[in-house]
Amino acid sequence: DWTMGAYKEEAIRRIREQVGPHGRVICGLSGGVDSSVAAVLIHEAIGDRLTCVFVDHGLLRLGEAEEVVTMFRDHYNIPLIHADESELFLSALEGVSDPEEKRKTIGRLFIDVFQKHAAEAGGAEFLAQGTLYPDVIESVSVTGGPSVTIKSHHNVGGLPEKMGLKLVEPLRELFKDEVRELGRELGLPERFIGRHPFPGPGLAIRCPGEITREKLEILRRADAVFIDQIRRHGLYDEIWQAFAVILPVRTVGVMGDARTYDYACALRAVTSVDGMTADYYPFSHEFLSETANRIVGEVRGINRVTYDITSKPPGTIEWE
Ligand code: XMP
Repeated sequence: DWTMGAYKEEAIRRIREQVGPHGRVICGLSGGVDSSVAAVLIHEAIGDRLTCVFVDHGLLRLGEAEEVVTMFRDHYNIPLIHADESELFLSALEGVSDPEEKRKTIGRLFIDVFQKHAAEAGGAEFLAQGTLYPDVIESVSVTGGPSVTIKSHHNVGGLPEKMGLKLVEPLRELFKDEVRELGRELGLPERFIGRHPFPGPGLAIRCPGEITREKLEILRRADAVFIDQIRRHGLYDEIWQAFAVILPVRTVGVMGDARTYDYACALRAVTSVDGMTADYYPFSHEFLSETANRIVGEVRGINRVTYDITSKPPGTIEWE
């Protein structure tokens, strides 16, 4: 009978077979569960012939870059290149407001950055990705319907052949809960395994309209307060994904006896099994008003908070 332990052994065998006895692999680490599990699995299979690259595209959450680097250097001993490329990405995104254009810009730059670091890492021929089964199907078509791209996930397909790297995707058959199970099998800490998914294009798709450094900074702080609230109330593990979105609109408010004219934000929290469908999380009114008060009180630049109660479908989880 089927166990995750047996699956792990089989996955390791297949990685060795694909990569061969001397092949080198480069892996993009996002800090999320998927790429982390892929990296640790591949490290078990081929050891130091794996190099991980953590690309900081300037679209990460508060403290996230430091957290990921510390985590992998301290706990895993996996060779890690920390590529701070935020200037490159943020300049390229200036003036871009169309969601697909954002995704394509980020995807294209990722490829450039990877090519550069793959060359530096002693000529890797393989690129590892933590692509999951739902990523594969959602990017290809809507099941049962015409072939329509909802969102072009930059970590699936679209990688031009000119990149010259072959793909290693050991999680391609798995759903999220199975990846977590595999992560446990590989000994990853529970705190890490339980992390909510975070999209490759990062905060870019949580900042509808044009992305500015100012908006990103406000968004980071609002998001951090929201997640802190969720943790304090012991709700983190009940929720599939939770985050803030900064809206491209300023609204009028009043603070003390002064008028404010600041950004509005939306909070999104959903339950889901695999990300393909989702329901909004039914927070209590007390939780919502406490959170709204904290965000407006603690985050300069936000004076209005809304809660997104759309399920998927018809809404998607991310706003873009
Ligand atoms: P949507 O917004 O399509 O999201 O309902 C479903 C799940 O996918 C994540 N997501 C992405 N993950 N690259 C990723 O790695 C992407 O471009 C991307 N877009 C969405 C989203 O966070 C949710 O978990």
